[in-house]
Amino acid sequence: MEKVIEETKQGTSLVLEHKAGNTKKLFIESYGCAMNFSDSEIVASILANEGFNTTQILEEADLVLVNTCSIRDKAEQTVRKRLEKYNAVKKINPGMKVGVLGCMAERLKNQFLEEEKIVDMVVGPDAYKDLPNLLKEVEEGRDAINVILSKDETYGDISPVRLLSNGVTAFVSITRGCDNMCTFCVVPFTRGRERSRDPQSILEEIADLSERGFKEVTLLGQNVDSFLWYGGGLKKDFVKASEMQKATAVDFAQLLEMCAVAYPKIRFRFSTSNPQDMHEEVFHVIAKHHNVCNYIHLPVQSGSTRILKEMNRQHTREEYMKLIDRIHEIIEDCSISHDIITGFPTETEEDHQDTLSLLKYVNYDFGYMFAYSERPGTLAARKLEDDIPEEVKKRRLQEIVDLQQEISLTRTARFIGQTVEVLIEKSSKKSDAHWSGRNSQNTTVVFPKEQYQVGEFVMVKINDCTSATLIGEAVEYSSIMQ
Ligand code: SAH
Ligand code: F3S
Repeated sequence: MEKVIEETKQGTSLVLEHKAGNTKKLFIESYGCAMNFSDSEIVASILANEGFNTTQILEEADLVLVNTCSIRDKAEQTVRKRLEKYNAVKKINPGMKVGVLGCMAERLKNQFLEEEKIVDMVVGPDAYKDLPNLLKEVEEGRDAINVILSKDETYGDISPVRLLSNGVTAFVSITRGCDNMCTFCVVPFTRGRERSRDPQSILEEIADLSERGFKEVTLLGQNVDSFLWYGGGLKKDFVKASEMQKATAVDFAQLLEMCAVAYPKIRFRFSTSNPQDMHEEVFHVIAKHHNVCNYIHLPVQSGSTRILKEMNRQHTREEYMKLIDRIHEIIEDCSISHDIITGFPTETEEDHQDTLSLLKYVNYDFGYMFAYSERPGTLAARKLEDDIPEEVKKRRLQEIVDLQQEISLTRTARFIGQTVEVLIEKSSKKSDAHWSGRNSQNTTVVFPKEQYQVGEFVMVKINDCTSATLIGEAVEYSSIMQ
């Protein structure tokens, strides 16, 4: 079940190169989605100007920040457990301050300060620029909170530091928030309204990454396909925008193409797509540009049209299948992955069978699978009873995981005998004599190191595989990307 993402048991603590003259120590830990990891880099960058260098040693920290996830109850429980650990450390280091960032901060607000005595500061995802002020309050002995959501904050003017980076792959956020209101999802409440970032500042960030030797960029958003830049603000205001603004507006397909053309030696990925907002133009951009990866993460959540409707997903099972057909008609050998939720309220055995049969139809390369977790305040929590027993949710989840595992193996095996282009990212976890990287379709590839180096694009002949990893040998440098 290697491909099933559960909330990390322990978040990842992040460090950056030290800034001379900084004397205070920041321990910053992130849980949840890539956006949180990317946000932590923005936070570290803001605090580097306030005298903080990052540390990986919790016990020596002056300030501990935890960037939190609310997507499922388990994610929140993990953070609560971490707070207990910080509490224990605070006993030996009483000067240490603790701040909670991200989605739990936004969801629980003041309640956090009341429930968790250890917490000194609560900061929502749109309030990170206020951190210097909030820190002053904390240093003067007061609790501090800012959970105001914004309709235009994109942090486009902040150049994020790259934490614990391999120096090869980076995330660049292009939209924030989400307007979709899927009935199970807490994100629209914790991350606010959807807004797009100025393409100019996106290109500048990529230019900086390129100069520093980065070779792969993942464009990041809750819902990247609804990216729309016409001068800023909420998307609904687009109807009121001037003719000039509309004429020069940039949508996601255009942004992706701008990036691909401007940086032909950088490989581009993007995440996440919502089927209802995904347009064919994006498929054409993928097909046209070698440096845009043949891989789409296209969460479906359920294979039953009735459940999709209850989830407020704006498409049917059949429309989703048509979209998949179009992907294969337009893009040669594209990998597709999914998110699926089992046991959404009212889900019957028949609905569950619909999900299993959709899995077979799409032939997904892999997926992230979850049991439904009711989130307070969402439409589903208010309108629908969480009526599927835990053991039924778990059994259905296991059936989906098992089927996906089977399909993944056949999908991965298709590469045996082929020679694929791989960007070398790091040493293989299992063997220091092997490199690990990914091909365009996002499958991990390992092969003997020989003379090759991290950050190089190489052609690897595939000889063997497991369900998630290709095993091969490098035959030459890529003639296109290297
Ligand atoms: N657009 C987001 C997706 C939201 S969260 C992104 O960029 O990744 C990721 C996945 O978590 C969702 O696609 C969904 O499958 C799952 N999820 C969201 N809310 C959930 C809930 N209440 N219970 C179980 N899984 C959930
Ligand atoms: Fe959540 Fe649906 Fe948006 S899953 S992040 S409300 S697209």
